[in-house]
Amino acid sequence: MSTSEQTYIMVKPDGVQRGLVGEIIARFEKRGFKLAALKLASPSKEHLEKHYSDLSDKPFFPKLIKYMLSGPVVCMVWEGLDAVKTGRVMLGATNPLASAPGTIRGDYALQVGMNVCHGSDSVENGQKEIALWFPEGVAQYKLDAQTWIYE
Ligand code: PPS
Repeated sequence: MSTSEQTYIMVKPDGVQRGLVGEIIARFEKRGFKLAALKLASPSKEHLEKHYSDLSDKPFFPKLIKYMLSGPVVCMVWEGLDAVKTGRVMLGATNPLASAPGTIRGDYALQVGMNVCHGSDSVENGQKEIALWFPEGVAQYKLDAQTWIYE
């Protein structure tokens, strides 16, 4: 059992503008994941094209890049057991038409072109995305709430 798996989760521009950052963070915290990195960023077109390089031949690629350039994003690394798979379940299906209620997209999104959040789709891609968005590295610490309640 590995409790150190990491996933890259990003609140997209619509999620930031709609004030959903705290809600999304709260869901990952309450689920039991450990926050390993967090920042607000305004990535360049080149950076986003790198992040979405696998989709460069999709017809929606220019629209996706334009949307992602429309405002700041919140970049996060969450760590814990099956963080990649569970993170994707918490986000819900990519197209909100198919996202179950109770998931982030199922509760807050209606269309695939404004679907609030991104989550890594595999451990390998997660590591690539974390390296791309956090070249400075992520935090190393032990999550131990008990120690931080009593002085
Ligand atoms: S695909 O076509 O199966 O490779 O796409 P998918 O894995 O479902 O989604 C990959 C990312 O592309 C975004 N996407 C779209 N954006 C705009 N318009 C349309 N039609 C569209 N279809 C997919 C989708 O939100 C995914 O973004 P991320 O950030 O990875 O969640």
